[in-house]
Amino acid sequence: MTKIILGIESSCDETAAAVVADGSKILSSVVASQIEVHLPYGGVVPELASRKHLEAVVPVVETALRNAGVDRNQLDAVAATQGPGLIGALLIGFSYAKAYAFALNIPCIGVNHLQGHINSVFLEPNPPPFPFVALLVSGGHTSICYVKSHTESELMGQTRDDAAGEAFDKVAKVLGLGYPGGSIVGRLAEKGDPQKIAFPRTYLDKSGFDFSFSGIKTAVSRYIQTHPDDYKNQIPDIVSGFQEAVADVLSYKVIHAAQEKRCRHIAVVGGVAANKRLREKVRTEAAGKGMSVYIPSVDLCGDNAAMIAALGYHHLKQGDISDENADVYSRGMSN
Ligand code: KG4
Ligand code: ZN
Repeated sequence: MTKIILGIESSCDETAAAVVADGSKILSSVVASQIEVHLPYGGVVPELASRKHLEAVVPVVETALRNAGVDRNQLDAVAATQGPGLIGALLIGFSYAKAYAFALNIPCIGVNHLQGHINSVFLEPNPPPFPFVALLVSGGHTSICYVKSHTESELMGQTRDDAAGEAFDKVAKVLGLGYPGGSIVGRLAEKGDPQKIAFPRTYLDKSGFDFSFSGIKTAVSRYIQTHPDDYKNQIPDIVSGFQEAVADVLSYKVIHAAQEKRCRHIAVVGGVAANKRLREKVRTEAAGKGMSVYIPSVDLCGDNAAMIAALGYHHLKQGDISDENADVYSRGMSN
């Protein structure tokens, strides 16, 4: 029998709700972004994020149900992000989900945001078979995981400093391009020459899967300091060179991780997976090695609740249900 799950996401600066059938069919997906609120500060202000989630969660959930044409009494469970993320922000969505499920007498399922991103590929046609290697690139995380099932991943490597999305955001900030910078940098980079200004590629241990992006971010800042008069005319070339260096490292590492696991299937997920050059590069390089690449459509790369509902469905099937004492957590892959 079809299972209908309401998903709720509130880990950072998006309040999102979605209704998903059987972990794969999106009936509705609503994302209320808080960009306008955080824009004057050039980054997410946690206290403001919590307040905005509180205002948005009820209308966003109501809109998701209405758009899906689903009555709340038809829901089989409510899934919400339990962590990692901003504690105050997580508390709004997760507490709301617990209360909502309690009132309807259905299960509440707390899910891991990162495993949620990984599940976004199952919302697209022709998803990968298990096991596969996932490159998770977002504003808060950059990691490579060996994905064994919908609910189980082994961490192979992660960033030791900035996340890839954070590096995009910081580069946008030093160049005065606005916030959040990833998509702006991506668009501008298309107009530049990626070979004109070379930025360092930090591979760390070439056989390992950890990342470091603080060096390249500093190299961009240094370039600006040493070219105070003319850097403004070179912005497309600067961001293009930066993007190329980041995409080189990410694609190199994920392909090596797949080779190490003797695995022919690679997924790229998270906000930075929306980056055109990264998508292109991983696809081209993987094709040369006979590997298949799975990247969700741009709408499903950034934070959304459809991926949370999709993962919730698989936890429900396994009987992993949260009790009333379950609490949110700020860090980690566990759940
Ligand atoms: O997954 P996500 O929506 O939120 C987190 O869980 O962090 O990722 C947001 C990140 C931001 O750093 C944003 O600048 C970056 O993804 N991003 C991009 C692009 N679109 C969003 N980075 C590079 N190129 C893009 N096109
Ligand atoms: Zn995310």
